[in-house]
Amino acid sequence: MAFSERVTRLKSSLIREILAAAQRPEVMSFAGGLPAEPMLPRVDWAEMPASMGQYGMSEGEPELRERIAAEARALGIPCQASQVLIISGSQQALDLASKLFIDPGTEVLLEGPTYLAALQAFQLFGADCLSVPLEADGPDLAVLRQRLESHKPAFAYLIPTFQNPSGVRYSEAKRQAVAELLDQFGVTLIEDEPYRELVYDEGRAVPIVSRLGKASWIYTGTVSKTLLPGLRVGYLIATPDLFPHLLRLKQSADLHTNRIGQWQALQWLGSAQYQEHLAALRDFYRARRDAMQAALEEHFAELAEWNLPEGGLFFWLTLKQPIDTRGLLQEALEQQVAFMPGEPFFAEPEQNPGYLRLNFSHVVPERLGEGLRRLAGVIRRAQQAAAA
Ligand SMILES: Cc1ncc(COP(=O)(O)O)c(C=O)c1O
Repeated sequence: MAFSERVTRLKSSLIREILAAAQRPEVMSFAGGLPAEPMLPRVDWAEMPASMGQYGMSEGEPELRERIAAEARALGIPCQASQVLIISGSQQALDLASKLFIDPGTEVLLEGPTYLAALQAFQLFGADCLSVPLEADGPDLAVLRQRLESHKPAFAYLIPTFQNPSGVRYSEAKRQAVAELLDQFGVTLIEDEPYRELVYDEGRAVPIVSRLGKASWIYTGTVSKTLLPGLRVGYLIATPDLFPHLLRLKQSADLHTNRIGQWQALQWLGSAQYQEHLAALRDFYRARRDAMQAALEEHFAELAEWNLPEGGLFFWLTLKQPIDTRGLLQEALEQQVAFMPGEPFFAEPEQNPGYLRLNFSHVVPERLGEGLRRLAGVIRRAQQAAAA
């Protein structure tokens, strides 16, 4: 069969494969990034007008665009509703941006590590990925400057607030420094913020796009982590030079985002009920994060180092004695434990062995200790075998 040239770059998603294995109820899964099932809000469709079943506008429902623009302005992002495009989850922003910017060999700038499915989307279109290492408070600025001086990436893709997978929240100083560098070198920013509202410890996180003076930008968010991922409703906000192109790409991809999901999102966003739900969500996840921290201290203190994530859904562990953790998956699954190996989150997995991403929202606290005890056992045995 003669497929397109880009299909040769299509990689199977390790996440999907692990999640499939983790479906079995006996498996303790630290692998996914799913909202906790008990915290999915009950939604009511009774009031939905029948007209929501009709075709809609490619831009999205006008009222929802207004609501999202107002919320974004409250965060400090200068924008109008005309710059908001409702999309099928923020994942679609990555696909549309890839189509807009990437030809085979186009350079793009990413955090190391970064969101696995973003890497896949960019690489499918043939991107050359330039990584900038992440530190506890954001990217290594010296490396960022050096990359910008010696390359001309089409865009920088960053997840500055409770990054997936590392959990890092950029400091205000680094946000400012990154904005100044992107302005100086005229590089477009794609800022991806699915975890902004899942915040457990106070702290500031003014979006980087709001600090840009010259560079073009796309800011993207979603209701997947706060409401229901099954709605498939996200949004992007873009500078006026980019918006018309993204809109046309959206039209050619799927005409418009499902109106039924958009209607439901509109019932929540900006409402008092949504604020109450977010507060309950934060309390629930904070307790799970703290339980995970305690269990990690018990079972992983000798094996790994990590920072307490102040938001989001993940702990990011660095093994003190690095081994490629992809090799541990099978045994872990045999022990009924699923986790995400850290290597695929890097553009150069082979050069970055020894990381694990552990989700803390899914496994119930009563089973946490047992799950981590088994995982620690799998790692210890593999390290001993590697040393022998
Ligand atoms: C960083 C990041 N971007 C985008 C997405 C996609 O989210 P959505 O469900 O809105 O497509 C995720 C989901 O895990 C994510 O972690």
